[in-house]
Amino acid sequence: MNRISQDKSVRALLKCGISQLRDAHVPSFTLAAELLLLGVLGRDRSWIYAHPEEELSASVADRFFALVARRAAGEPTQYLTGKQEFWGLEFEVTPDVLIPRPETEHVVESAFDRLAVREIRAGRPQKNDGAGLRIADIGTGSGCIAIALAKELPQAVIFATDISPAVLEVARRNAERHSVADRIQFHESNLLDQVFAGGAQHAAPLEATVLGMESHESPITSHDSRSFDLIVSNPPYVGRREAVTLMREVRDHEPEVALYGGEEGYELYADLITQAAAHLKPGGILVLELGHNSLPSVQPLLDGPTWTNVGVTNDLAGIPRVIAAERL
Ligand SMILES: C[S@@+](CC[C@H](N)C(=O)[O-])C[C@H]1O[C@@H](n2cnc3c(N)ncnc32)[C@H](O)[C@@H]1O
Repeated sequence: MNRISQDKSVRALLKCGISQLRDAHVPSFTLAAELLLLGVLGRDRSWIYAHPEEELSASVADRFFALVARRAAGEPTQYLTGKQEFWGLEFEVTPDVLIPRPETEHVVESAFDRLAVREIRAGRPQKNDGAGLRIADIGTGSGCIAIALAKELPQAVIFATDISPAVLEVARRNAERHSVADRIQFHESNLLDQVFAGGAQHAAPLEATVLGMESHESPITSHDSRSFDLIVSNPPYVGRREAVTLMREVRDHEPEVALYGGEEGYELYADLITQAAAHLKPGGILVLELGHNSLPSVQPLLDGPTWTNVGVTNDLAGIPRVIAAERL
């Protein structure tokens, strides 16, 4: 490593990594260098600041600077460390899955708010364990939304779909890591198509048996297709025409199938909303994440007699980020 001095202390390596990332115009370069060093060392952040003089081996230094070089060339830190936090939980991420974003936590929050209001309106004590609830997460990616819901609603049964089989492997591992794999059924599916009997690929009754589910929790049949209490989704919503405006970390490294909804970006919402209308129970709740410019195209799809209580939540940047509605 010609750019490393003889000094292989934690402080020296970190300083050198920070300077390389700064020179490469990497956003949050200090944090990125810290995370890469922590990843190589398998330590927590407090350790590196408590041991600035600790001498590291040449092989650790080589591995660290190899990651710094990849980060400087545009690979997202999370794909290099293999992890990202969401809802206070650590998720495995690979280049097959979208890196969970903080704004997606608004989807989870909106879902809880809507469920709570529904219970209050029905004059029922607020359920906080999700007993009896059936939930679908469409386009589950790393599984972050489904797993956050499963952690908070330990009695709920959750169906998580994705069109990409590679994504589902990561989501399954995350569900196992967070001990909720027995309550989430993962389906390789275009939206909800394969969740229902007839097209079921990964929804065979065998899966329910393997998961130890009771008969009332087995995969859904066409006879009870209006069976969900809550459908959530963070669909791909970037327009291909906007690709040039994306950061290189996103455009060149995150999966296209997770980013682009079509030429404009909002193309998937019409089918999503049609399927949600078909598969939510009366009073069921739909919660969708929005792209920064999706609202004018998506909100009209929820006009009309099928939906009520349509509401929009802004993210911390003031962008309309989540739209929620109730099935009549
Ligand atoms: C924006 S990512 C969201 C991932 C994750 N839910 C999150 O919030 O981080 C969209 C996901 O939808 C999946 N996807 C794209 N088109 C789909 C379709 N037609 N049916 C099901 N999933 C789809 C992608 O593979 C990707 O994992």
